[in-house]
Amino acid sequence: MAAELIDGKLLAATMRAEIRQKVLELKATSGITPGLGVILVGDDPASRSYVTAKEQALAAAGMHSEDIRLPASTSQEELLAIIQRLNATPEIHGILVQLPLPEGLDEAAVIRAIAPEKDVDGFTPVNVGRMMIGEPCFLPCTPHGVIQMLLRSGVETKGKHAVVVGRSNIVGKPVAQLLARKAKGGNATVTLCHTATTDLAAFTRQADILIVASGRPSTVTGTMVKPGAVVIDVGVNRVPCATTKSGYRLCGDCDFESVSAVASKLTPVPGGVGPMTITMLLENTYQAAVNTLQRDL
Ligand code: GUN
Repeated sequence: MAAELIDGKLLAATMRAEIRQKVLELKATSGITPGLGVILVGDDPASRSYVTAKEQALAAAGMHSEDIRLPASTSQEELLAIIQRLNATPEIHGILVQLPLPEGLDEAAVIRAIAPEKDVDGFTPVNVGRMMIGEPCFLPCTPHGVIQMLLRSGVETKGKHAVVVGRSNIVGKPVAQLLARKAKGGNATVTLCHTATTDLAAFTRQADILIVASGRPSTVTGTMVKPGAVVIDVGVNRVPCATTKSGYRLCGDCDFESVSAVASKLTPVPGGVGPMTITMLLENTYQAAVNTLQRDL
């Protein structure tokens, strides 16, 4: 029997309606419209389409965005100056710098320049550290979206073996951390696999919950999955396709057909984790705006 699909689009639509309502209430009670500064450097087509989707979702949720498009030739100093301006702009509650940045820009230094209270991506060392020790913080959007998908589709994580494939700062490391923490959607025993793992399949076959964030199509195939496992495919890859107008199609990091035949639940690509990532960005931006009220007390 084919795996049940976890419909990220549907879950995201439900959560976005909740956020939109909270934004309306915030506006009515405080006059504040949550605002996000969105910076895209260069013209990578995938990054451009992610950023456009984020800006459209912000507008649909009743939030404001300042959309900043910069050429790939932008210098480090120019980029840092823009971040500093946004840090000092009261109407901007969150700042998002779409990654990866073009070559020549120092990504770590750019992230460090974002004020932690506006770091709605949860990428700054302050937020990462707070997450590690369980202090209030902005959780990174994709890992938080993955946990919300598990929670909202009724997947128990407590006591389960979760295997994460991929150790990026954006997905692999933080999602492993969230699955292990003592909290709802956590309490799992976690194994973190990466490119230096020998015999990846030996680990993935032990997973009750398998999170695949390797950035490579067909990293996980059906023979690598334990029957009945829950599989969350975080990958978004553009592969050439002769039958689509764009000349490409999107696929995840799992071989969908073979994994679907073995898993009990599986996220599709597109329409799985992607919409949830954007939804968590909306939630964090709303929260950043609410936090300013507390600071004003
Ligand atoms: N690039 C890939 N995922 C993300 C994300 O969640 N936030 C940002 N800023 N860049 C990304």
